[in-house]
Amino acid sequence: MSDSNSTHYDLLIAGGTVIDGSKAPRFSADIGVRGGRIAAIGNLTGHTADRTLDAAGQIVAPGFIDAHTHDDQAVLSQATMPFKISQGVTTVIAGNCGISAAPLRADMDLPMPLSLIDSPAEGRFTTFAAYLDALRATPSSVNVAAMVGHSTLRAVTMPALDRPANAEEIAAMRALVEEAMQAGAIGLSTGTFYPPAAKATTEEIIEVCRPLSARKALYVTHMRDESDHVMQSLEETFRIGRELDVPVVVSHHKVQNAANFGRSQVTLPFIRETMKHQCVSLDCYPYTAGSTMIRADRGMLEGRVLISASQPHPECAGRDLDDIAREWGVPKDEAARRLQPGSAVYFLMDENDVQRILAFDETMIGSDGIPVGESPHPRLWGTFPRVLGHYCREIGLFPLETAVWKMTGLTARNFGLHQRGTLEVGHHADIVVFDAASVRDAASYETPARPAEGIDTVIVNGAITWRHGTHSGARNGQVITRQATP
Ligand code: ZN
Ligand code: CU
Repeated sequence: MSDSNSTHYDLLIAGGTVIDGSKAPRFSADIGVRGGRIAAIGNLTGHTADRTLDAAGQIVAPGFIDAHTHDDQAVLSQATMPFKISQGVTTVIAGNCGISAAPLRADMDLPMPLSLIDSPAEGRFTTFAAYLDALRATPSSVNVAAMVGHSTLRAVTMPALDRPANAEEIAAMRALVEEAMQAGAIGLSTGTFYPPAAKATTEEIIEVCRPLSARKALYVTHMRDESDHVMQSLEETFRIGRELDVPVVVSHHKVQNAANFGRSQVTLPFIRETMKHQCVSLDCYPYTAGSTMIRADRGMLEGRVLISASQPHPECAGRDLDDIAREWGVPKDEAARRLQPGSAVYFLMDENDVQRILAFDETMIGSDGIPVGESPHPRLWGTFPRVLGHYCREIGLFPLETAVWKMTGLTARNFGLHQRGTLEVGHHADIVVFDAASVRDAASYETPARPAEGIDTVIVNGAITWRHGTHSGARNGQVITRQATP
């Protein structure tokens, strides 16, 4: 399998066990890297390289692809991305839940949750092209594939967000989607769960998304309801996909609130049945708690709530809402209102549902990490090693080949990431070397910002970016744009 014209590589990963991201069984092989690409896979004994890494006893896999992130600004403002690189993540999908870094105006005020990841100090981007150009000019350590957010489009287009868009506003948003598509956005996301888009009708979304159809670009959604009305939300999502004739991604699939525990036994068969007729995929994070803006509605406050950040009460970060409410002598919802704006962690899921959704064969792994504040949800630092360590090795939810596929090959296929996600000659050299016996997440709700254990080496487009617990400083990430569909 090695190429014939030369036997010298930039980098040789020697003696490892390859799990190639296709779900195929592991095999022993060396990997030769040249010019940022995988040049050879096989027995490369006797071949030379500028640098050789001994991978004996370790797994060599494609770099992980985080199917769901809010890293739009972080890839610029925290460009070395230690919370992702340290997990073995080499590519992030940005622009989720209706929120993107572009297009925005410098002078506008953003509502929650759009303001959550905004960093106006770093500058805003009035076009999607300007955002992607900035990323190309000052690359991150990870590759970025970005989507445009429907809530962001509403915020730049509409004077008031508490109503459906009118025909003029829809036309304006559609023009911005067209601009984003031409610039290289891989799709559009919605977040109808959130106030800035909750009043958008299904018809508004379909009309705004028209430019996706010609390119078969993705429609990705944080659905209107992941609680009592999760089935209606799935129906709406699939209908949008059918009307536009584009692939849909159900983001961070879950069934929230105690009354809905066990309902993944209904949602997953519905998703599987729908997959027979249209292109549907889904992602999931490996935790029973979610995280988002501080909300005061009863459904969200049903379980334990951990405050991550609060603008008026920064001293409350890391504390339980229950304790804060008791201390203040007010009900939970009143305490939540006083803490707004901010972000929190909500314990609203059942472990059995999380495991059932993770184990569903078509489920990709996405962190949904929010890279701001001192007390983020531990998924920001721990998602991928938690799937490999806790769910794969300790619980035995699926074989390691399947775990790797869910974070590489499957994700690259669903998002149309060309020549990534599997270890093949000619593909970009995004590679992670890890120890299957010791890989584990170290981030917890109490101490969330801790790098994982067992991630030996992370290589992005051929550049060693993480090795033995240290970031090399390499920022070799690329902007991934949508390939013309075959
Ligand atoms: Zn979301
Ligand atoms: Cu999200």
